[in-house]
Amino acid sequence: MNNRKNKFDTLPSFEGEIDPTQRAWIEVSGKAIESNVRQLRSKLKNNCEFMAVVKADGYGHDAKVVSENAIKGGASQLGVATLKEGIKLRSFGISAPILVLGNLYTKKDLLICFRNDLMPTVSTIRECLICNNIGELNNFKFSLHLKVDTGMSRLGFECDQFVQQFNNIKSLENISIKGIYSHLACADEKNALNPKSSTQLQREKFQELLKLINIHNTQNIKIHLANSAGMILGKDFQFDMVRVGLSMYGYEPLLKINEKLFLKPALFLKAKVTFVRTIEKGIGVSYGNKFVSDRKTKLAVLSIGYADGIIRNLSGKISLIHNKKLYPQVGSITMDQMMVDITDSNDINVGSTMLLLGSDGDKSISPIDWADKCNSIPWEILCSFKNRLPRVQVD
Ligand SMILES: Cc1ncc(COP(=O)(O)O)c(C=O)c1O
Repeated sequence: MNNRKNKFDTLPSFEGEIDPTQRAWIEVSGKAIESNVRQLRSKLKNNCEFMAVVKADGYGHDAKVVSENAIKGGASQLGVATLKEGIKLRSFGISAPILVLGNLYTKKDLLICFRNDLMPTVSTIRECLICNNIGELNNFKFSLHLKVDTGMSRLGFECDQFVQQFNNIKSLENISIKGIYSHLACADEKNALNPKSSTQLQREKFQELLKLINIHNTQNIKIHLANSAGMILGKDFQFDMVRVGLSMYGYEPLLKINEKLFLKPALFLKAKVTFVRTIEKGIGVSYGNKFVSDRKTKLAVLSIGYADGIIRNLSGKISLIHNKKLYPQVGSITMDQMMVDITDSNDINVGSTMLLLGSDGDKSISPIDWADKCNSIPWEILCSFKNRLPRVQVD
C-alpha cells in the first residue's frame, strides 16, 4: 500500500486537466441573467430599484456569475442568506450593497458583517443596540435594514410594536437605516390579486405601518416588500425596491398572469452518456428492478445521480432531451448514474450529451416540470444541485 502511494506521489495528478464537461455539469448563461434583469426592470415603476437575490450560490447557478450579470442588467443591490455568502461576493470584488436576508444574532457575526460592508436584517431592538455599539466603537455608522412581520411569521418586528420601537431606533446615532422591509407569504397564489387575499392584507398592513412612522419624512430609506411573484402583482407592491430571485433565473412565478415576461432560463443541466447496452424484453433495470423492459430496449447509462442533487423521487418520471427529441428515464435513479431508454434513437452513443434541464428546439424541461412531478417547488430543485456538478459559464 505504502509503496504504491510513494510511487504515485511523484507523478502529477492531472486533476486540473479533467474536462468539466466530461461527466455531468451545469451550464450557466450570464447573458440570460442580464437579459432577464433588464426585462423585469422594464416592468418596474420609475426609480424602483432591483435587488438580485443570489443566496444559495445564486439559486445553484453560481453566485459570482449571477451577481456580475445581474449588475450588468441593472440590479443595484444583492441579497444573500448568510454572512459567508456575502463575504464570498466581496472577495470577488463585488462592491454593490449587499443585504444579508437571514438573521445575525451574535455580536461576533454582526461585527463580521460590519467589517465586510454587508448590511444585516434586523428584527429586534437588541440587535439594533449591538449594531449601534459596533458603529460607535468603529466610528462609522452601521448600515442595516429593519424587517417587519406582516404575515409570514418568520423574521421581523411585530407590527403593533414597530411604531414605538422605530422612534427609539431612529435616535440611535451610530446606525444608518438603509431599508425597511417585509416579506410576502402567498404572493404566488392564484388569488393574490383578490382584494381580500392575505397578500393584499400584508401590503395594506405594511403601508399602514409606513404611514404611522411617517416614512415620507425619512429620507434615503428604501422600502421593499416584493419577491418575484410580488413584483408582478403590480406597482402597488413595488415600493422603492423589489427583491427578485426565481424570475431573474428565467422562471415565471407560479401564479398565472396575463402578461408574458419573455424570461430565459439561465441554467442547462447536462450529462454525458458513458455506456450503452441493449437488453432483451422482460429484463429489470436498476435497484429494485422497478422498470422491466416491455421490448428489446437500448439503454444509455448517464453519469449523473442523486449525489449530484437529482431527486431520487423523480425516478421514471422525467425525460431527457437529445437532438430536439425526448427520451424517458427508466428505473431508479442511483447515487451516481441513471438509465435512459434510447431505443428510438440512432444518434446517441457513448460520449453523447443529454439535456436534463433546459431547452433544445421546441423541447424544453424546466425545474417547474420536475417540481410538479415530485411534490416540490422549483426553488428547491435549483438549490439541490451539489458542488460535484461543475458550473460552466457559457457566455
Ligand atoms: C426575504 C426574501 N426576499 C426575496 C426572495 C426572493 O424570492 P423569489 O425567488 O420568489 O423571487 C426570497 C427568497 O426566498 C427571500 O427569502
